[in-house]
Amino acid sequence: MMLPDDAGGRPALEACGLTLSWDGGMHVVAEGIDLDVHGGEVVCLVGRSGCGKTTILHALAGLTRPVRGRVLLHGEDVTGQPGRVSYMLQKDLLLPNLRVLDNASLPLVLGGMPRAEARQRADGLFARFGLEGTQELWPSQLSGGMRQRAAFLRTYLMGNEVALLDEPFSALDAITRQELRTWYVGMSRELGIASLVITHDVDEAVSLASRVLVLAGSPAEGKPSAIVGEVRIERPGVDDFSITHAYVDIKREVMGLLGAEVAR
Ligand SMILES: Nc1ncnc2c1ncn2[C@@H]1O[C@H](COP(=O)(O)OP(=O)(O)OP(=O)(O)O)[C@@H](O)[C@H]1O
Ligand SMILES: [Mg+2]
Repeated sequence: MMLPDDAGGRPALEACGLTLSWDGGMHVVAEGIDLDVHGGEVVCLVGRSGCGKTTILHALAGLTRPVRGRVLLHGEDVTGQPGRVSYMLQKDLLLPNLRVLDNASLPLVLGGMPRAEARQRADGLFARFGLEGTQELWPSQLSGGMRQRAAFLRTYLMGNEVALLDEPFSALDAITRQELRTWYVGMSRELGIASLVITHDVDEAVSLASRVLVLAGSPAEGKPSAIVGEVRIERPGVDDFSITHAYVDIKREVMGLLGAEVAR
């Protein structure tokens, strides 16, 4: 397991000069994408709807091949190789006909581990993921926040140090979302997970990340997206960071990079 103080060393995940297209290069969605994420760090990639965030996530997950560029895991070239990073799609997608414990342990079973052993391994993490006592429930018996925690646990049990998350908090109410963001940052730091969260929600990015990467462009109009800026966030260590002047300044900077006006 990687420890957070690895943050000064080699990144867990690197993208180098990615150019992405869904038709082999005729229509380019994004180009020149460079990014890195260290163990224990949460980085957000923020951009408007349709600018190419999910396309980038699919390439980083090895589900598609870039037209150009490479994806590295601890320096190893894994471009186009699925199964090397964990990822979670926009909806939590727990299977309704499996108990919570079986949902969580599914990646282990799919990886060939006997079911009893997989259940035991997953069970040992339920308390850490705030799910103690829910093992034998059905997903429909959980609150939205708990379902999302179970989905995070299942993603974690995909077994990789890098997690790519596509709009992971969007289905939750505002209070649960804020609680879960705080929990996620602490949990990923403790477990040494390198997380890249993609979102179109600037507040989400600023509340979660230690760095926000801003993606801008209009691929649908023939203007490929690119990362137009990076904003680093020093957290002041207060719970209500989101109502501080520092927060508003950072949000304004991100909105400026996105080319939008800050709502006043
Ligand atoms: N197979 C495809 N055929 C045609 N267009 C595609 C295809 N895949 C992606 N696109 C286009 O590529 C662009 C980027 O799509 P993508 O899903 O990556 O955006 P996104 O930033 O994730 O958007 P959202 O925030 O709405 O999820 C969009 O203009 C989309 O229409
Ligand atoms: Mg998307």
